[in-house]
Amino acid sequence: MAGRWKNDLKWSDVTPKAAWLSRRQVMAGAGGLALGAIAGPALAKLGAAPSAYSTDETPNSLEDVTTFNNYYEFGTGKEDPSRNAHLLNTEGWQVEIAGLVDKPGTWTMDDVLKGAALEERIYRLRCVEAWSMVVPWVGFELADLLARVGVQPGAKYVAFQTAYRPDEMPGTRYPVLEWPYVEGLRLDEAMHPLTILATGLYDEPLPNQNGAPLRLVVPWKYGFKSIKSIMRITLTDKEPPTSWNIANAREYGFYANVNPQVSHPRWSQATERAIGGGLFAKRKDTVMFNGYGADVAAMYAGMDLARLY
Ligand code: MTE
Repeated sequence: MAGRWKNDLKWSDVTPKAAWLSRRQVMAGAGGLALGAIAGPALAKLGAAPSAYSTDETPNSLEDVTTFNNYYEFGTGKEDPSRNAHLLNTEGWQVEIAGLVDKPGTWTMDDVLKGAALEERIYRLRCVEAWSMVVPWVGFELADLLARVGVQPGAKYVAFQTAYRPDEMPGTRYPVLEWPYVEGLRLDEAMHPLTILATGLYDEPLPNQNGAPLRLVVPWKYGFKSIKSIMRITLTDKEPPTSWNIANAREYGFYANVNPQVSHPRWSQATERAIGGGLFAKRKDTVMFNGYGADVAAMYAGMDLARLY
């Protein structure tokens, strides 16, 4: 890692705080659209430590990160999650950890956070739809949680499941995907130090539209792998089914590594639109593994990434 990442920057060092605060005030004035989800006692700062894994790119604004979202359980429009995700009740949230682990069981969020080393991770996020952002997540390494439950030798994959609550998730009335949303990683991917479970962003608890109270972040893969509002984690010996692959296997594979050379059947993945750059901003070239190749490429040595997309 050494030398390639700035290890001492937090979002507050790279985003002028005054600009950020005034943006928050504007948002509050506009009806507290995104702020609603993170207001109240939750405003307490999480105080996460900076990380050597953070990019030194400038994060997108809080407004971009919390009003331009994909969370189909709350609608397919980019602003639907920020409008509807307040309907999700995250109080008393429990996460079941099951399958090939030494200590299966149900965890409260307090259990999950107890002993978790929270860090700020400023990561690039590249969506399969060919847009991108930079997000200052707060979270901890999934590997730490897996170590706490004890992974058994037969485990080869980790499966994740989002809560499925039709009464609180208006988007699930439509059969755009099979519900609940499910995702998975190979065990080595899950154990990689870049892979985190996020519980916050911009130094505050995660807004519902971004996947509160617990979401996966895998920065070298297309955003759809980063499953939101997780309520079950299962260690298994078989490659688990994944929502977008079930919906359209030709367009979305299990691996979903960011790869500018492998086009989506309906569009090129060679470039991306950086959100927040304005209407006339030039598209950016997409980088293999979203720029994290030095850390992750070895996991895919010898694999045909055009076939295992
Ligand atoms: N998780 C669930 N449960 N449902 C979803 O629709 N969308 C995915 C991913 N996780 C999605 C999800 C997609 S396509 C992307 S790009 C990211 O969430 C977007 O994360 P963000 O809204 O926090 O930027």
